[in-house]
Amino acid sequence: MKKAISRRAAFKKITGLWALAIAQRSFGLFGFFKNKDNELEPDASGRVKLSLKNVSYQQLMNNGSSVKVEIKGLGKPLILIRKNKDSVLAISSKCTHLGCEVSLPHNGIINCSCHGAEFKPDGTVVKGPAKQNLKKFRTEVDNKEITIFLK
Ligand code: FES
Repeated sequence: MKKAISRRAAFKKITGLWALAIAQRSFGLFGFFKNKDNELEPDASGRVKLSLKNVSYQQLMNNGSSVKVEIKGLGKPLILIRKNKDSVLAISSKCTHLGCEVSLPHNGIINCSCHGAEFKPDGTVVKGPAKQNLKKFRTEVDNKEITIFLK
């Protein structure tokens, strides 16, 4: 037997769903449901291998290119910058001032839009309020993959 629902109860349900939808849209309340398919997972020794055959990273074949890479447990993405055939820089995108995510390099500058700090593409701070360089990670490169050492 079907249970009758009052207009008031139906209205409450509908407004409740709308409130949840608006909260999700405005504040990302359900960020834990975010698709993390593109997140790379370090192995037990803290190494992350990134295949240059993967479409998302193929641009790193070109000198001067840069991408952000999500890595499980880091909180903020890593910025990878191809310096030359044998070298890729890996630096944290977590600003050393108050932790905002910095931009990819643009015209030779990595910018933090929160309070205006600027860094060179190697992570060296050039303008405050940040006082420390962005954290760097060691990398190894061959023509198939990039290995990032988080420890
Ligand atoms: Fe980057 Fe403040 S958090 S300048």
